[in-house]
Amino acid sequence: MHAPSTPIDTPALLLDSARMMRNIADMQQRMDSLGVAFRPHAKTSKSPQVVQRQLEAGARGITVSTLKEAEQFFAAGVDDILYAVAIVPSKFEHAGRLIQAGLRLTLLVESAEGARALSDFGRTRGLVLPVLVEIDTDGHRSGIAPDSPMLLEVARAFSHDAQGGAELHGVLTHAGSSYGLRTDAALAALAEQERAGCVRAAERLRAAGWPCPVVSVGSTPTALRARALDGVTEVRAGVYVFFDLVMAGVGVCALDDIALSVLCTVIGHQPEAGRLITDAGWMAMSRDRGTQKQAHDHGYGLVCDAQGQAIPQLAFNDANQEHGVLQWTGDPGTDLARRFPLGSTLRIVPNHACATGAQHAAYTVSRPDGGHESWPRFNGW
Ligand SMILES: Cc1ncc(COP(=O)(O)O)c(C=O)c1O
Repeated sequence: MHAPSTPIDTPALLLDSARMMRNIADMQQRMDSLGVAFRPHAKTSKSPQVVQRQLEAGARGITVSTLKEAEQFFAAGVDDILYAVAIVPSKFEHAGRLIQAGLRLTLLVESAEGARALSDFGRTRGLVLPVLVEIDTDGHRSGIAPDSPMLLEVARAFSHDAQGGAELHGVLTHAGSSYGLRTDAALAALAEQERAGCVRAAERLRAAGWPCPVVSVGSTPTALRARALDGVTEVRAGVYVFFDLVMAGVGVCALDDIALSVLCTVIGHQPEAGRLITDAGWMAMSRDRGTQKQAHDHGYGLVCDAQGQAIPQLAFNDANQEHGVLQWTGDPGTDLARRFPLGSTLRIVPNHACATGAQHAAYTVSRPDGGHESWPRFNGW
């Protein structure tokens, strides 16, 4: 990692573009070799510049978690988007507007009520809405179990004709329990469970007469540890683009794969307490303490020098809104004010890239020539 050559205001969200490009290329190559389409989840970056690079590398369409993301990425030229959160009637109008403007927007439901309401909405708009049904393959969050009778009930609730409606296009699952695993063997087993459960749901629908062309699976850990993806048509992954400390703790990336860090400035010292104070508090890092339950708890983030070299003796265990409190755990005789002078900079590697990114309005992107540029990102709904 190069330190930016000209001073920048801190706290700032730094993006190492070389690492990001390597993460994008590695994942795309893996998906190509497994014979599946790749549809990255853009909620991690919320950045048209990042998504453009994922599409140029071979991604086919993107996934989003909010209609704001769908709207922003459509405005930036992306025309094939999967909104991978179950939609509710209060959001139909927004989705309908985007579809009427020409976006190929695929929607998600996990209930017969949702399928019926979308079918009615499609008919009132004269649109046939493409929809996936959410499948629960690991008890992580939401969706219908692959063998549940409810699956066919939901399928029967779809209806469309020449006047519009909603059409079942396939099934989707997200094995988010992968974030709690630690070994390659356990991740490979969960990836197989995710694959098999989603394919099983698709086969039940096909046997009952629905063609079910789309079988969409994925999380970063399962995408990176799946050994085969027979029957799957597309994989989704988001955080792989930047990686973070949680992913390093799960064991699917190394620390030097992590492309995101927060640049901060030393604003004070407390020599008696062995503390440094910086201008990156929880507002700059987020409150996400995702490594707390992992083998190594990194507090609010891993402290590094301005070049990105870890300083393990500085523990980031406490934070106020705009103050980071770093505890020195090394040699008690160290002169902290000399080693980390007022105004010097540090980098903090985040626990959770999506959460830390959401605290900032732009990425400061390092260029190979040592310079940097700003890429905006959007937040909110
Ligand atoms: C539906 C869905 N698909 C894909 C992903 C991507 O997961 P990851 O960030 O682990 O790649 C998520 C993440 O929350 C998700 O909710």
